[in-house]
Amino acid sequence: MTEPGASVSKTRENISQLRCIECGAVRENGGRNFRCASCGDLLEIVYPGWERLDPATHKSIWLQRRTSRLPMDESGVWRFRELLPTLRDWNTAITLKEGNTPLYELPRCARAAGMQQLFAKHQGMNPTGSFKDTGMTVAASFAREQGFRWVACASTGNTSASMAAYASRGGMRSLVLIPEGHVSWGKLSQSLDYGAVTCQLKTGFDGCMQVLNQIVERMPVYLLNSINPYRLEGQKTAAIELLESLNWDPPDHIIVPGGNMGNSSALGKALVEMKEVGLISRLPKLSLIQAEGANAMVRTMRETGGRKLVSVDAETLATAIRIGSPASWKKAARVLQATGGTVEQVSEAEIALAKAEIGADGIGCEPASAVTLAGLKKLVKQGFVKSGDHVVLILTGHLLKDPEFTLKFHRGDLLEDQRAPGLHAKQRAPGLHAQQRAPIAVDASADSVIRILEQAETHTSA
Ligand code: F0G
Repeated sequence: MTEPGASVSKTRENISQLRCIECGAVRENGGRNFRCASCGDLLEIVYPGWERLDPATHKSIWLQRRTSRLPMDESGVWRFRELLPTLRDWNTAITLKEGNTPLYELPRCARAAGMQQLFAKHQGMNPTGSFKDTGMTVAASFAREQGFRWVACASTGNTSASMAAYASRGGMRSLVLIPEGHVSWGKLSQSLDYGAVTCQLKTGFDGCMQVLNQIVERMPVYLLNSINPYRLEGQKTAAIELLESLNWDPPDHIIVPGGNMGNSSALGKALVEMKEVGLISRLPKLSLIQAEGANAMVRTMRETGGRKLVSVDAETLATAIRIGSPASWKKAARVLQATGGTVEQVSEAEIALAKAEIGADGIGCEPASAVTLAGLKKLVKQGFVKSGDHVVLILTGHLLKDPEFTLKFHRGDLLEDQRAPGLHAKQRAPGLHAQQRAPIAVDASADSVIRILEQAETHTSA
């Protein structure tokens, strides 16, 4: 492997800077691990040259691009390129036409949560089935611009699927480190099909991350985890697109699942920046929901007020967020403080019930995404969210990412899963059984099927 050129940014007109979130030092490049060379904290991208944009002009340019056939405009990420770091040549961006995801109304879920109305922005409708694509198009494009041949990530499955796809599209190789036995088949199969070198390690996500940190120090591979701030810049666009679809009228609450904390940090950064440049007039409250068994951020906020990370030994059947030591915890804590949002945790049973309820609205999502609805129910009960508030859940992954979870739930054996000992003993969610719809083995005769149909009809009308 040859070392790629390190000083690319010197030659281009550069309107963004990399800055340490803790000591404020400005760095010319992210080094190998996107950490500050002085204090070791994470870097973020800032735009010192950002004049106060003319909001009206930009809103109209972004809308016009919706009818353009240029690849840059067809991407729901690069359509907002004025709010992203500058590539030397926009046409070199690696894009799969990501973003442009739907905003759905969820009437049944609204009733289940005690809300008058409820909306969900479905980031699982991205090309590889998760929100990761919006960040990957940006970070993978910068990797290729800098001449990297290899990109790498540690993952619970979605980052790896997305990275593998964008690397292949961009003519790069990719290395994936995943925790053995804790990545759903759907996600694992994606990374294989997209051509990644996929290593299953006998450790959790946090252990995979530690191994990867050592690899990037020794080999010329470009780190594509969400500590890479270019990822977060792309992920910002989900919030920008959401506000555009709401005619720039901010909702009262946005509710997001929390794992490694990259997504909440990105969405919060977008909200704060949109307010700063005058695209919106007030900030929605951004709240974070975690599984009880992987609640590092909840404990960090409750026990230290967001000043010191409380790591946990993560365990949850929502494997996407089975993370005990979230890398972007400090960025997320700042977002919670800036927007006035809160944190909440939910049990395995509450996640499973919420997932089935989102499915019953004809939408569906993967388990990690369903924590948002489960958490909302609690926030409504606590009075933090009022029944008439305008609330948007961010659904992060597609239903088909984890079919095993769904089948086990409907067959009734999910919460007895041996991989998560003890979790089934936690609080059961009322109404759980009513949502279960196991497949029914029936004789191959019309009479038998009609009997089932009639029973189902009686059951529904009862
Ligand atoms: N939802 C899904 C479906 C995810 O895949 C993830 C994270 C999250 C929520 C949490 O987002 O980490 O930005 O706080 N998945 C990562 C991965 C860790 O490797 O795919 P976060």
